[in-house]
Amino acid sequence: MLTSKFSIPEIIFGHGSLAYIGKCARRLGGEKVFFVSDPGLERAGWVERVFAILGEEGLEWVFYNNVTANPRDYQVSEGASRYLSEGCDVVIALGGGSPMDAAKGIALLASNGGTVQDYEGANRIQRPLPPMVFVPSTAGSGADISQFAIITDHQRHVKMSIISRTLVPNISIIDPTVLTTKPRDLIIAAAIDALAHAVESYVSRLAFALTENQSLKAIDLIIKHLPAALKTGSLESLEQLGIAATSAAMAFSNASLGMEHALAHSLGGMLDVVHGMVHPVLLPPVMRYNLQACPAKLADIGEIMIGKRHRSAEATALAGIDKLAGYCHSLKIPTRLRDIVTDRATLPQVCRMAANDACLLTNPRDASWEDMLQICEDAW
Ligand SMILES: [Fe+2]
Repeated sequence: MLTSKFSIPEIIFGHGSLAYIGKCARRLGGEKVFFVSDPGLERAGWVERVFAILGEEGLEWVFYNNVTANPRDYQVSEGASRYLSEGCDVVIALGGGSPMDAAKGIALLASNGGTVQDYEGANRIQRPLPPMVFVPSTAGSGADISQFAIITDHQRHVKMSIISRTLVPNISIIDPTVLTTKPRDLIIAAAIDALAHAVESYVSRLAFALTENQSLKAIDLIIKHLPAALKTGSLESLEQLGIAATSAAMAFSNASLGMEHALAHSLGGMLDVVHGMVHPVLLPPVMRYNLQACPAKLADIGEIMIGKRHRSAEATALAGIDKLAGYCHSLKIPTRLRDIVTDRATLPQVCRMAANDACLLTNPRDASWEDMLQICEDAW
C-alpha cells in the first residue's frame, strides 16, 4: 500500500451551527473579517444574519459580493486588493462553490501576491494563507473541505485548477438550515456534482481506503435522500445530502477527480456552462468509457445504484450506469450536451483544453482529446 495523506478542515456540523461563525473567526485571531458571499444569499437573508452574528462578536467586517458563477481572476484580484487596503485578517465565505473558490483565491493573493495564474497546478503556494472559515450554502461543491480552488482566466477562457493543502479552510461550518432556501434545480445540480465527486474519486488512480469509504458512503446517501429532498424539502433529507457532499469532498480532496471534471472545467472556462449542469450529461458516458479500466469498482457503485449484483462485474456496473442515466432523465433536467452547449463546433477545442486539466491525470483510463471528443459527440 502506498503512503497517503488525508487532509480535512475542522468541521462544525448541525442545525444552527452558523451561529458559531463569529466565534470561529475570533478564535483564529481575526478582528476584521473579509466576508465573501453572493447576491442570491443576500436576497435570502443569510448575509444579514451573518452581519448580526459578527456584530454580536464585536468583529468589524468588509463585505464582498462581486462574484459570479465560474469566478473570474479579476474578481479575485479586486477582492485581494480590498482585503489588503482594508487591513483584514481573516476570510469567511458563505455560498456555493463560486464564492468559496473566490474567497480562497482572495486569501491566496492577499498573502502570496502575484496573480492567480502564478499558482495554477499543484503545490505552487509558498506562504501560509490567512485563516479561512467557510459555510457552504449548497450540498455539492465541497469547496469548504477541499484543497482545490477553481478560478477562470477570463482572457484565455480557461478554468484554472489550483491545488494545495494550504487551500483547505481552517473551519467548515455546515448548517443544513442554510440549504433550505435553495430552489429545486440548484439542489439537483449540487447533489449530482457531489455524486460526480464521489464516483470520480472512488475510481481515481489516487484512491485509497480512507477516501474510498467516504466515496461509497456519499453515493449511498445521495441515492437514498435526493428523491425525498426534492419531494418534501425536509430538513432531514437536506441534512443527509449535506453529509453526502461533505463525505464526497473529503474523498476528492485527497484522491482528486477524473475525466468528467476535466471536461466540466473546460466547458465552464470556455463556454461559461454552469458546473452542476454538466454532470447529468457527461457522468454516465464517462463511467461507460472507464468501465474496462475498473470494472470491479464500477460494480461496487452499480450495486449501490440498483441494490443487487448481477453475474459479472461488468453487468452490475452497466446496470448501475443505466440506472443513473435514467434517474437524471426522470428529473427533467438537461441530459444531452446540445441542451447546455449551443455551438457543436466548439467541442474539439473544449476537449483539447480538457486534455491539459489536472483532473485527467487521475482518471482510471488514459484518454486523448480525440477520445473525449467521441464521448462528447455521442452525448450530443
Ligand atoms: Fe465538481
